[in-house]
Amino acid sequence: MNVVFLSPHYPPEMQQYARGLAEVGARVYGVGDTPRAGLSFDVRRTLTDYLEVPRILDEDDVIDRVSSWLRGRTIDRVLANWEVLVVLAARLRERWGVPGMGADTVEGFRDKQLMKERLRAAGLRVARSERVRTVREAREAAERIGYPLVLKPIAGAGSSDTYRVDTDDELDRALGRMGKVPEASCEEFIHGAEFTFDTICIGGRPMFENISSYLPKPLECKLHEWISPVVITVRDMGQPRFAPALDLGRKVLGALGMGDGFTHMEWFLTPSGEAVFGEIGCRPGGACLVDQMNYTIDADLFREWARAVCWQAFEASTERRYNVGIVFKRAKGRGHIKSIVGLDEFMRRHGQWVVEDKLLRPGQQRRNWQQTLISDGYLIMRHPDWDEAQKMAFSAATEVVLYAE
Ligand SMILES: Nc1ncnc2c1ncn2[C@@H]1O[C@H](COP(=O)(O)OP(=O)(O)OP(=O)(O)O)[C@@H](O)[C@H]1O
Ligand SMILES: [Mg+2]
Repeated sequence: MNVVFLSPHYPPEMQQYARGLAEVGARVYGVGDTPRAGLSFDVRRTLTDYLEVPRILDEDDVIDRVSSWLRGRTIDRVLANWEVLVVLAARLRERWGVPGMGADTVEGFRDKQLMKERLRAAGLRVARSERVRTVREAREAAERIGYPLVLKPIAGAGSSDTYRVDTDDELDRALGRMGKVPEASCEEFIHGAEFTFDTICIGGRPMFENISSYLPKPLECKLHEWISPVVITVRDMGQPRFAPALDLGRKVLGALGMGDGFTHMEWFLTPSGEAVFGEIGCRPGGACLVDQMNYTIDADLFREWARAVCWQAFEASTERRYNVGIVFKRAKGRGHIKSIVGLDEFMRRHGQWVVEDKLLRPGQQRRNWQQTLISDGYLIMRHPDWDEAQKMAFSAATEVVLYAE
């Protein structure tokens, strides 16, 4: 089993997928723009070989370089778990005749307008939306769709350049800020709570499914620095209120032609109980979501993903034992972390349920909260009871405070 795995070193969680691949017996050929000398010891140990390329996002250049590097070798899989590389992986598969989803299928998981068009054609509930390339197109689309609406890049990530727009003035302001975005999706604003639906699929059939709850919605977290974003995996997915979402999620996989691997979908639960599609990627969620899912079922999904994509098998038990909450903290003030207040008390009360403490510590430089999903670090905690898990997460969100100066 010879596997090409794109960007095995960055983002950092890719190192875990590389490890998973090696653990299920694959020979892993890494390709990335991290200098060879900069690869961590763990990554180097898992790779059979590594090709350093100057620009990993330059698809044509990478295709040429990797093709000549691997000439004469048989490659069985080409894989990528980082959103910006999923299309490149598909193009390499097509170029070499390797099994897996082709570029057109993967575009349906990458292009936010195309995915919605395909799902609408399959009769699924998605936000009304239009692709817009100019200010004029945006104004015309807004006229047709009506306010409130959302304007966001077609190939976005991390809620960057994503705006809720309620008036003509706000539309002009949002358009003014989107100068660098070549194509945007102008869409109906969906009211309601926001959740994920995540899977590991084999041939489009979920071997593992997960729902997690965003508290609050990512767009709000992006707008207000004072918020400590919370995400909690839902232990009991059998609740009736989730039935429409599970049905929607499985149909989405079918309609978009999912093959093997992770998917990460976002959806809205409207006040009337309807599940509305938000977006989907054919890769895992970031910001430690896979760690959270691992703590939910006490498994190693980095390895189970590898088993699924290499050998079409899934061996972990999917029994859900915990609601797993992650709480991202943003320090008050700029500069370096000065102190942490409330953590000792929180640990005294809840320490037995806390599984990870990755908060920055005094002396460390604050991160740019707009650019990182993990903020100034996080706590992960779990509890078999939903209310307890949520109470605990909210108490970490409000009572633990990092100060910087
Ligand atoms: N049609 C919509 N109605 C309501 N809210 C929306 C809509 N589209 C996007 N949002 C909000 O904006 C956020 C970011 O949008 P989206 O998920 O499409 O972009 P993204 O940048 O790929 O996100 P990420 O990479 O953070 O998952 C969503 O999580 C949601 O909170
Ligand atoms: Mg999103």
